[in-house]
Amino acid sequence: MYKIIEKKILSQGVNQLVIDAPLVAKKAQPGEFIILRVNENGERVPLTIADFDREKGTITIIFQEVGNSTRLLGELEVGEGVADFVGPLGHPTQIEKMGKIVCVGGGIGVAPIFPIARGMHQAGNQVVSIIGARNRELVILEDDMREVSDELTITTDDGSHGRKGLVTDVLKELLEDDEPIAEVIAIGPVVMMRAVAETTRPYGVKTIVSLNPIMVDGTGMCGGCRVAVGDKTKFACVDGPEFDGHKVDFASLMARQRMYVEQEKQASTEGGKCQCHCQK
Ligand SMILES: Cc1cc2nc3c(=O)[nH]c(=O)nc-3n(C[C@H](O)[C@H](O)[C@H](O)COP(=O)(O)OP(=O)(O)OC[C@H]3O[C@@H](n4cnc5c(N)ncnc54)[C@H](O)[C@@H]3O)c2cc1C
Ligand code: FES
Repeated sequence: MYKIIEKKILSQGVNQLVIDAPLVAKKAQPGEFIILRVNENGERVPLTIADFDREKGTITIIFQEVGNSTRLLGELEVGEGVADFVGPLGHPTQIEKMGKIVCVGGGIGVAPIFPIARGMHQAGNQVVSIIGARNRELVILEDDMREVSDELTITTDDGSHGRKGLVTDVLKELLEDDEPIAEVIAIGPVVMMRAVAETTRPYGVKTIVSLNPIMVDGTGMCGGCRVAVGDKTKFACVDGPEFDGHKVDFASLMARQRMYVEQEKQASTEGGKCQCHCQK
């Protein structure tokens, strides 16, 4: 069992857990993820590593309760634990000194962008961050992001906090500035990542997105996480999760994400019970 050391509710339905997992913490780097199972009959849930502490041997995850497994995960308290905790998986973010980096985080996507912004800042880059949410209550990690950014702008759809509008409004202004941008990194809902990629495309600024297709094994064997990037098929778990945003086929990614909507609804209404004859 992988024990929960700390639990914090960041906003409605968004939890932060610090989990004792020394072997994962030893190797974790920004951009990587873990796959956990809440209990031994549970489905495998991929979650980005939001932070790690090598000395304490802990990993921080931040997740939104969207369906059955994340709801069960959110019910766990300090002292309880999850059955499996596998990682670190995926390729780490390429962190080096490049100049001005714009980090764009939308909703829960602020969690994975935080260690990347921190890494880029520590590497000596000028980090300009934009974090967006639907409203004030859904803005997470504002103080943490401010600490690792040279500039931070918050946008909310309804204007209840920061600037009213979308993250891409602020991004467009930065792109219009004379100061060159070395790279834009965007993590958030697929529609947001697609909008960011379309905003930067005419300016030819390198844009990295972190994809979240359905994943099963996380080892490149099942093919569940396949995404079309350029003219190639890639597996997000082993080739990503980060890709060149200008090459990703976002339409097919969105279609694949909707593939199991009916089954997911059924699992939520039936309390996650298996519908075969195994009685689990
Ligand atoms: C590399 C990666 C990193 C992620 N990091 C985070 C994170 O840091 N925080 C966070 O809140 N969410 C993250 N997600 C999404 C998270 O895995 C899903 O929200 C979770 O699996 C939903 O499970 P559920 O049973 O609660 O919901 P379900 O009812 O099963 O599904 C709800 C929605 O979640 C998505 N989903 C379901 N199962 C999977 C799966 N196995 N893989 C990917 N997406 C799935 C689908 O879009 C689905 O429509 C990440 C996904 C990937 C692939
Ligand atoms: S999750 Fe199975 S190939 Fe990526």
